[in-house]
Amino acid sequence: MQNINWGIIGCGAIAHLFAQAIKKLDNCTILAGASLTTGRAEHYTKTHQIQRSYSDYQSIVNDPDINAIYIATTHNFHFENIKLCLEHGKHVLCEKPFTVNAQQTTTLVTLANNNNCFMMECLWTRFLPAIKHLSHLLAQDIIGEIHTVKASFSICGDFPPEHRLRNKSLAGGALLDLGIYPLTLAAIVFGETPTHIQSSAVIGEDGVDESSYYLLEYGQGQRAMLSASFMEHAPSEGIISGSRGYIRIPDFIGAQELHLHLNNKPSKILTFPFNKDENFTFEISHAIECIRKNKNQSDILPIDKTTAMMTLMDTIRSQWRLKYPGE
Ligand SMILES: NC(=O)c1ccc[n+]([C@@H]2O[C@H](COP(=O)([O-])OP(=O)(O)OC[C@H]3O[C@@H](n4cnc5c(N)ncnc54)[C@H](OP(=O)(O)O)[C@@H]3O)[C@@H](O)[C@H]2O)c1
Repeated sequence: MQNINWGIIGCGAIAHLFAQAIKKLDNCTILAGASLTTGRAEHYTKTHQIQRSYSDYQSIVNDPDINAIYIATTHNFHFENIKLCLEHGKHVLCEKPFTVNAQQTTTLVTLANNNNCFMMECLWTRFLPAIKHLSHLLAQDIIGEIHTVKASFSICGDFPPEHRLRNKSLAGGALLDLGIYPLTLAAIVFGETPTHIQSSAVIGEDGVDESSYYLLEYGQGQRAMLSASFMEHAPSEGIISGSRGYIRIPDFIGAQELHLHLNNKPSKILTFPFNKDENFTFEISHAIECIRKNKNQSDILPIDKTTAMMTLMDTIRSQWRLKYPGE
């Protein structure tokens, strides 16, 4: 089997989780880490026993031994980082949100096609066994006609102004960072294109949404009521309600359980356990399989779905007139 050598661009918090997750997989290695922050690439590569360390991104894309790159910088840098990788013929896995807006994603699609590169957004929830099973249950009409999706995702903490959630120059805000998860759950259930979109945001002192709320309409009386926040404490759960019952997904972002409540039947808990350090293993494993099969995109999260998500978030932000630097 072809060994895949990975490079990492941006050696911050999430890059460490990626390094832990990849250790669970065979025939793939992180060969190099690159960071613009002094000493960070050395620290990262030492921590995870990675051979090569670069203090700039050009060197990692010039490394002929690297096949694929995981981009773990903050959202505002994703476009330029992905572009650099594609221009050097590297396959790309990039953290969510894929870019800041849909126009950037569309530009990258052309570049990926021209350079024959695989490209996928790391929206890890979509690749989890519980979520795959959810799609299977819904396809079987287990809860009958589906009427609503309710989902919220909150991380409440004392984040300083420079933190990526608050910092407008890093494309901060609850929507792009957290809201993408409940929006994804709605997309999994109802598809990518709501017919009507209403939203509301609490814009804080930093000029980004601290909390935001989305009401999406789909065909035939279907609605999604969703929210995201880094200011309020709330359960991060999803509930899908239908004519014959409902499914509750505690901590749906990293779903390990589906609570099945069917009319006139005892409720049932279906479990899909995995360890914390395996959070990203499912998406990485899928990407590797696609690369080995010479695919340019994922069939679980094809680039059209990513583009549709970026378009939806563009529409929501336009309702609040929230623009990021350079837009
Ligand atoms: N999938 C998930 O569950 C999950 C969870 C958290 C975050 N994420 C995503 O992962 C990405 C990174 O998040 P993170 O928490 O790892 O971020 P982070 O640690 O704050 O930053 C990641 C990297 O981005 C660059 N960076 C950050 N702030 C910068 C600044 N002010 N100026 C210049 N460069 C800066 C640095 O790259 P260098 O190392 O090159 O200096 C840094 O190492 C985000 O897009 C986020 O949405 C995903």
